[in-house]
Amino acid sequence: MSHLFSEGQLGDLTLSNRIIIAPMCQYSAAEGAPTDWHSVHLGTLAQSGAGLLIIEATSVTPEGRISPWDLGIWSDELGDALQREVEKIRRWSPIKLGIQLGHAGRKASVDAPWKGGKALSGSEGGWETLAPSALAFSENPTPKAMSSEEIAQIKQAFVDGARRAQRAGFDLIELHAAHGYLLHQFLSPLSNQRTDNYGGSLENRMRLVLEIFDEVKAAVSLPVGVRISATDWTEGGWDIDGSIQLARALEGRGCAYIHVSSGGLSPAQQITISPNYQVPFAQQIQQQVAMPAIAVGLITEPEQAEAIIATGQAEFIALARGMLYDPRWPWHAAAKLGDKIAVAPQYQRSEPHHLRGLFSV
Ligand SMILES: Cc1cc2nc3c(=O)[nH]c(=O)nc-3n(C[C@H](O)[C@H](O)[C@H](O)COP(=O)(O)O)c2cc1C
Repeated sequence: MSHLFSEGQLGDLTLSNRIIIAPMCQYSAAEGAPTDWHSVHLGTLAQSGAGLLIIEATSVTPEGRISPWDLGIWSDELGDALQREVEKIRRWSPIKLGIQLGHAGRKASVDAPWKGGKALSGSEGGWETLAPSALAFSENPTPKAMSSEEIAQIKQAFVDGARRAQRAGFDLIELHAAHGYLLHQFLSPLSNQRTDNYGGSLENRMRLVLEIFDEVKAAVSLPVGVRISATDWTEGGWDIDGSIQLARALEGRGCAYIHVSSGGLSPAQQITISPNYQVPFAQQIQQQVAMPAIAVGLITEPEQAEAIIATGQAEFIALARGMLYDPRWPWHAAAKLGDKIAVAPQYQRSEPHHLRGLFSV
């Protein structure tokens, strides 16, 4: 059996293989609630054979949405709506389900990417954004620097969202501290210029992420992992050294895994994108912590994924675009690597003639 198709653990959650579907915003929710699009999209991904499907960034408050069409979990009604999606998937698939909880901070209140992704004014359905400091991202409007009271409210919103996620039936919670969104904005000295105990030193900039992690962890019995950007790819920004410190601190608090992405905080970022471009960051962190690291970013080939796991660069790999392009990627990977994969009984007859024995049912 390949390393890619061996079982793995995220906290006390067992995954049937090392393939994770990365969270992907769909900009197709209605007032924070999933729509038929989610049933179709998630239903397709749920038949992929991946070990874990992490549902898109889901906002813990209305103003934390990237766009007006993001999923939300700021009320019990929205928790119930997500529960119905979870139940639909569970009726037909054994895939494990995670949810990514987030807040977009100063990158909130923008249009859907396919409509240009520009900041929305009040008359276009936009709203005032919140951030650690009154520093704008790119050409977006300047956000309001959060008061201590607003910081306390956001912490509570993450805790309430996590409780609702557990009640909705998810197997795992991922906190979104990557891609220049609110928690990343607190980590990076480029966006956090606070002078209270949430800004300044590395310890202070990490405080909010660690406090939210602790409170969420105490509120639920599910494994809780964190997604970070390992670097801002900019002079003077958040970097791999800070990421290693953060990963160590999270591990000491019982974090289930660290999901290692990069970038998204500064328009000045200089990234040379190529296959595996973020894997060295996952590897550097994996070498420093015992909890699993998840590598992500332009992992598209089965042999490439297998090599990352086999050489211990990371314990898991995640795919985003590759899984949209080919929602049966794990089937094809199993065929390529000479493994077996379980498929829904409705699809068993599709086993190709030259691959007899691929489907383990
Ligand atoms: C359509 C789309 C939506 C995304 N939404 C999210 C998201 O909600 N949360 C997140 O952390 N990353 C998000 N990402 C980033 C992906 O999870 C992933 O890290 C990135 O696309 C690199 O992986 P890939 O090369 O396999 O696509 C999104 C990416 C795409 C393509």
